Amino acid sequence: MHLISRLALVAPLAVLPFIPSVGAATIPQYVYDYAPLIWLHSQDPYRPSDLQQQLDHTTPQVNWTTIASAPAPLTLDNLDQLNDLGNTSVYLTSHEGIDASPEPAWFRGITPDKQGRLTNGSGSVIVLVDHGSGNIDAFYFYFYAYNKGDKVLGLEFGDHMGDWEHNMIRFSNGAPQAIWYSQHASGQAFTYSAVEKKGIRPYAYSGNGTHANYVIAGKHDHTIPGVNLPNGFLVDYADRGLEWDPVFNAYSYTYNTTTRSFEAASPGAPLGLVNFNGKWGDDQPPGEPSIFGEAKYVAGPNGPKFKTLDRKHVCPSTPCIVLPFKIWVGKE
Ligand SMILES: *[C@@H]1O[C@H](CO)[C@@H](O)[C@H](O)[C@H]1NC(C)=O
Ligand SMILES: *[C@@H]1O[C@H](CO)[C@@H](O)[C@H](O)[C@H]1NC(C)=O
Ligand SMILES: *[C@@H]1O[C@H](CO)[C@@H](O)[C@H](O)[C@H]1NC(C)=O
Ligand SMILES: *[C@@H]1O[C@H](CO)[C@@H](O)[C@H](O)[C@H]1NC(C)=O
Ligand SMILES: *[C@@H]1O[C@H](CO)[C@@H](O)[C@H](O)[C@H]1NC(C)=O
Repeated sequence: MHLISRLALVAPLAVLPFIPSVGAATIPQYVYDYAPLIWLHSQDPYRPSDLQQQLDHTTPQVNWTTIASAPAPLTLDNLDQLNDLGNTSVYLTSHEGIDASPEPAWFRGITPDKQGRLTNGSGSVIVLVDHGSGNIDAFYFYFYAYNKGDKVLGLEFGDHMGDWEHNMIRFSNGAPQAIWYSQHASGQAFTYSAVEKKGIRPYAYSGNGTHANYVIAGKHDHTIPGVNLPNGFLVDYADRGLEWDPVFNAYSYTYNTTTRSFEAASPGAPLGLVNFNGKWGDDQPPGEPSIFGEAKYVAGPNGPKFKTLDRKHVCPSTPCIVLPFKIWVGKE
């Protein structure tokens, strides 16, 4: 095929998020140009997933009781109506159950195509927070239908429905300064110059099943949050499996830290998605046994607005150590 006609085929969708529509908030082009690329693990069956699909396969419940007056069908536009029907106690509960056997195919999300794109779904959200004086925080959120926890001595811990992970890049006058990698309850921060890139785009290595974001491939112990050890109790595996470009088909927003409100910044970006206060997966099953405080099935997470969008430092909490090198003590 001629280059022009190939471009014509891929270009309209690819550039769509960057065309500001009248009255919508805008996001500077550099936020997309510097966006991270994700290395999904080669053996991870649980790929990024379409957000609407999660709603199609779940029922909103509070304490395992279906919310009778919930909007039907539930969409990314009306999702935040659930805030008045249970607020943070709402769980998008999978029809089949987290332990369904055989495992439903939709748990496995969408495999990116050769260009790293999810062509039939949207599994990413970009949020820009403007702190004034040229200081911009750009959040890149990644969504997976299912999180498979790590195994210890043949036992599995931390499986849950719905999985939100993120990077955040702090910019100063359009130049990237530092980047945050979310990992389980915490994460790690690095200077922009320290991290591996493809061109100007940083790489994040997604843990097999857990999708925690690492700066480097290999084994990652996450027994102690924020401390990256190669061996230990709970270990994530990351490798250069399959590249995912989360910019393609992303929903973009701006977030105002004064009014604590979102504005759509890409055509059709649904506000219900970001305003929803509930959880994106099943609640922890009642009586779920746990060993050393770790259970096999845990509750689904809440969404982007709960990931400390208004941050002082590049990390969501202090102390915030921004490493100027990729710390690593193991073998890849
Ligand atoms: C990755 O996870 C899959 C199943 O979730 C498992 O079959 C595979 O062995 C895992 N690979 C590594 C390196 O842990
Ligand atoms: C949840 O439901 C159970 C069983 O119906 C009930 O015993 C319990 O009190 C409820 N919990 C809350 C917080 O409403
Ligand atoms: C609903 O949850 C949000 C987020 O935690 C909270 O700010 C708000 O006050 C809650 N609303 C009500 C009515 O409790
Ligand atoms: C996207 O296409 C794949 C492969 O045809 C399919 O398995 C998946 O269900 C589709 N996802 C959505 C959200 O339509
Ligand atoms: C946030 O909203 C306040 C109040 O409307 C406004 O004064 C301020 O300029 C907004 N901030 C940004 C970054 O747009």
